[in-house]
Formats: sequence, structure tokens, C-alpha cells
Amino acid sequence: MLPAITARASRLRGMFKQLIDNALDAMDSNRHQPRELRITTATQEQAVSVVIEDTGPGVASELQWRIFEPFFTTKRATTHVGLGLAMVQEVVNEQRGMITLDPDYSAGCRWQVLLPIKYEDDS
Ligand SMILES: Nc1ncnc2c1ncn2[C@@H]1O[C@H](COP(=O)(O)OP(=O)(O)O)[C@@H](O)[C@H]1O
Ligand SMILES: [Mg+2]
Repeated sequence: MLPAITARASRLRGMFKQLIDNALDAMDSNRHQPRELRITTATQEQAVSVVIEDTGPGVASELQWRIFEPFFTTKRATTHVGLGLAMVQEVVNEQRGMITLDPDYSAGCRWQVLLPIKYEDDS
């Protein structure tokens, strides 16, 4: 079982929804591949680790530094405004966590979210 973390459930839910929606969008754009979304949780030192992998096209390396930028999107539909990852980053920061995109993962996209178990507010 995973250790508990302190967070607003609605914020975490919103964050994971953005990541999962992106994974589903990516796999929709890559229909010749099997669509596989894998979510793995683990305890890693003082953090809960959540790894999210999809079998979409992944993020081109020249775009990886831009995707957290508010309003950056590669999608055409007007419903995609490019604020998903900005929101994800905000929630991760609130938790004093970390999010990384695995630059070596070639089967699709692989995110790791680290959320510290003990949230000490030292402000
Ligand atoms: N799982 C993913 N696979 C491929 N590209 C992704 C993935 N997640 C995010 N991206 C890229 O990052 C961009 C920004 O994502 P986001 O901030 O959620 O905005 P939006 O989903 O509205 O485009 C996307 O347009 C896409 O290019
Ligand atoms: Mg999105």
C-alpha cells in the first residue's frame, strides 16, 4: 500500500485527468499502434511515484522544453487550449513535487510524478 500524502483530492484528480487526457489524445493520433495506457505507483524514498506511459507518438525532443508553457498546444481542436500541463505543473509545485518527461522513452510518452510523502509547509 502507498503511504498517504497531504493534498486536496480535487487538485490531484484534476492533475491526473490532464495527464490521462493527453495520453488518450496522443494515442488517438497514433491509431496504427495498440493503445496502451499504463499507470504504475510506487514508493520512492520520501515520495510517492506515479508513472504514466502511453503508446502515442511521444513529444518530439525539440518541443519538450515548450510543452509546459501556457497556451502551447500542437492540437487543432479549439477545445485544446494548451493549459493542461501548466495546470499539472502548478499542482506539482503546490505539493513540492516533481514531474519529468523521460527523454529516452521511445515507445510513446512516459511521465513520472513524484509527490513527497511528508508535506512540510515551512513558509
Ligand atoms: N502524452 C503525450 N503525448 C504526446 N504529446 C503530449 C502528451 N502530453 C502532452 N503532449 C504535448 O504537450 C502539449 C501541451 O499539452 P497541454 O498543456 O495539456 O495542452 P493541450 O492538451 O490543450 O494541447 C500538447 O499539445 C502535446 O503536443
Ligand atoms: Mg492537455
